[in-house]
Amino acid sequence: MIYQIYPRSFADSNGDGTGDLNGVRTRLPYLRDLGVDAIWFTPWYASPLADGGYDVADYRAIDPAFGTLADAEALIAEAADLGIRTIVDVVPNHVSSEHEWFKAALAAGPGSPERARFWFREGRGEHGELPPTDWVSSFAGGTWTRVPDGQWYLHLFAAEQPDLNWNHPDVRREHEDVLRFWFDRGVAGIRVDSASMPVKDPAFPEVPETYEAGGHPFIDRDELHGIYRGWRAVADSYEEPRVLVGEIWLDDRQRFARYLRPDEMHSAFNFDFMARPWDAKELRESIQYTLDAHAPVGAPATWVLSNHDVTRPVTRYGRADSSFTFAAKRFGTPTDLASGERRARAAALLTAALPGALYVYQGDELGLPEVEDLPLDALQDPMHFRSGGVDPGRDGCRVPLPWTRSGRTFGFGPDESDAPAWLPQPAAGWGERSVEVQDSDPRSVLALYRAALVLRRSEAALRGEDFAWLDTTEAVLAFTRDDVVCVVNLGTAPVPLPDHREVLLTSTDLHGDHLPADAAAWLRT
Ligand code: NOJ
Repeated sequence: MIYQIYPRSFADSNGDGTGDLNGVRTRLPYLRDLGVDAIWFTPWYASPLADGGYDVADYRAIDPAFGTLADAEALIAEAADLGIRTIVDVVPNHVSSEHEWFKAALAAGPGSPERARFWFREGRGEHGELPPTDWVSSFAGGTWTRVPDGQWYLHLFAAEQPDLNWNHPDVRREHEDVLRFWFDRGVAGIRVDSASMPVKDPAFPEVPETYEAGGHPFIDRDELHGIYRGWRAVADSYEEPRVLVGEIWLDDRQRFARYLRPDEMHSAFNFDFMARPWDAKELRESIQYTLDAHAPVGAPATWVLSNHDVTRPVTRYGRADSSFTFAAKRFGTPTDLASGERRARAAALLTAALPGALYVYQGDELGLPEVEDLPLDALQDPMHFRSGGVDPGRDGCRVPLPWTRSGRTFGFGPDESDAPAWLPQPAAGWGERSVEVQDSDPRSVLALYRAALVLRRSEAALRGEDFAWLDTTEAVLAFTRDDVVCVVNLGTAPVPLPDHREVLLTSTDLHGDHLPADAAAWLRT
């Protein structure tokens, strides 16, 4: 079970309104008690935070807002003492425009070796006034920005995130060195950001309407596999081999699985599952699709309900069309938080019962909803700004956590300081969702997560590989894991429980021997 920490929003030890590594250190016992095996930290490196840290200025330094390298080393060691491993984020596609390499590239001018580490190109049009291609950025808008001497540089994300040229030997060498830097500090693995995007077609064609697998100018190019084989060799060179986890958004499952071959990455996030609506047919299909994709390469499946880029499950599943994973599509979709929470509880038991690795994004174990009414002037996400304000962006799932029922920042920061949290927490309801309140409530979302994670460890069936579907009606998902059955009712009426000897855990009270709508149960047969 891997718990994702967004350091900016987890716990603020020094009261400056931004979460920090010493804040995480004080909360390690909480994570141990939750049942966490590893923490994945979104980027904690020196960064102007133009994209929440995914604009790295220096991989070998911690951003002063988060602490120091010594804090990181202490955190890694203290977590390890509690049996918790650390995974750090590596962002190969781009660096910050404040990175030394990019500053040198700007200073050195066209045709310089410094520019060759990036993608500087002349523009089209009579005076080079048009960008080299019409590619569309993942954050809306174009992918090229012009510099004063007239050249354009490529950025698939924000202009503050110039793309690296992976044909350049310095880029390869540097990243392998960064891996070693963190592995040498006891880090157990890396999460590879935007892992299917770093390699570009150097001819820079437009994106064709249709193309063969591997034929897109900047997604899923075959050359990527050589890069990750090199990284795997670095990971395998340690006495306790390190792991690579890919952020790979690809619809084609054969292409997806290629990244998980035995000499490449160990696993990758399951976005297919995450993006499916609350619908039995959809989820059954995704689970089967996932297991089928992973089996041939022998990689463990992963189960992901959310992360720092998508709408919180309580909110998402509370919408009539719960396939709206991204905030951009949320306008005009009324949300029923009560049903969203019931479904998110059931989804937690569903994912925790499936074979493979489970990822939990901070705050999902508290059932936090998306904060949908952040004041416009508080928003920080470049996705919002680059969409011209059309997309609300991802800030709503990044609001600082509530640790206590009351207090200035609900225990996120110390009460004595007066700096506001970097994103405002909702005045109503946030404290009621705090760790303090849920800790002593056996019916809380937190209690459910803890109970599920205890069983996930103690039940041999849940640790193993065995998985088989049970025959059910259409709106019900049911499967066995040896002698444990997981059953989820996605319909609208209660359904009879399958035969069992013992009820291990339920997401809500049973109606006699019936499982209510939007609920899940773990049973022993
Ligand atoms: C994926 C990360 O999860 C997201 O937060 C970031 O904005 C992009 N990659 C660009 O690095």
